Amino acid sequence: MTISFKDRIAIVTGAGGGLGRAYALELARRGAKVVVNDLGGTRDGTGHSDAALKVVEEIEAAGGEAMSNGGSVTEYAQMVEMVARAKERWGGVHILINNAGVLRDKSFAKMEPEDFRFVVDVHLNGSANCTKAVWETMREQAYGRILMTASSTGLYGNFGQANYGAAKLGLAGLTKTLHLEGAKYNVRVNTIAPVAGTRMTEDLFPPEAFKAFAPENVVPAALYLVSEDAPTNMIIGAGAGMFHAAYVTMTQGVLLPEAERTPEGVAAAWDRITDRTGETVPQSGAEQSMAILTLLQGG
Ligand code: NAI
Repeated sequence: MTISFKDRIAIVTGAGGGLGRAYALELARRGAKVVVNDLGGTRDGTGHSDAALKVVEEIEAAGGEAMSNGGSVTEYAQMVEMVARAKERWGGVHILINNAGVLRDKSFAKMEPEDFRFVVDVHLNGSANCTKAVWETMREQAYGRILMTASSTGLYGNFGQANYGAAKLGLAGLTKTLHLEGAKYNVRVNTIAPVAGTRMTEDLFPPEAFKAFAPENVVPAALYLVSEDAPTNMIIGAGAGMFHAAYVTMTQGVLLPEAERTPEGVAAAWDRITDRTGETVPQSGAEQSMAILTLLQGG
């Protein structure tokens, strides 16, 4: 079955290059009208350029429909205006891909609080800003597909990226609550953890790998996750043609007798506490309390 985005209106942030550009081009090729947002700054988030405009020109040259937006995701008012302009011209917003991002890598020992704050602001608050700007529209339409962009750093950690990792796992957390709040309104929210050769990773990949990790190899997962039949509340990794899921899980745990509720008791029960046999993937925070109650009731 072909996945079409005909008559869908999509916003892709940070779509002036890299992954965002690849998403925007393919959404447009499959019929979506696309808002190409990009501030056009450098990798560390300074400066401006007309990167978004160039991608709009590419989309139009290929016969698609797009509008550029040079707003910053960190400015809520600019995101509200971006959504208003899309609605004015096309009548709604069905898809939001929160993709804009910056890097300010340094070991935590050397990281200035400002570099921590700035990176969290762009990735986490920026995605919350754009999502808040479209949220009411999606609820009213009873249709919305939102994709957050996490990273292996957020899910698993990476030396030198404390700021980035904190923001990225925050986005997976944002997905988990928004998917619950959006479910009733047919708003589905997912997270992608891409791996791609872009300017963000240009110093990491050797040239051969850079080609294998072309952004186009992430596009299929991103587009499926914002399609009509998209799942919700998933964390999907994608790179170089490999696709996988990542889960936040919970072990069965142990109910310690009162006398053992001491640090020593926890140490003694450590193997049982962390035993992964029968591990589950809770679908909401309440499941943790439920699991505890079940144990208390002797279940
Ligand atoms: P990129 O640097 O090519 O793209 C990021 C885009 O976001 C840039 O065009 C930049 O101008 C834009 N941007 C930055 N600050 C902005 C702001 N305040 N408002 C609007 N736009 C802004 O890098 P890439 O690799 O395409 O990254 C896309 C997303 O994927 C990012 O969120 C990144 O963290 C994430 N990611 C990428 C990985 C990779 O292997 N390339 C790995 C894991 C995550």
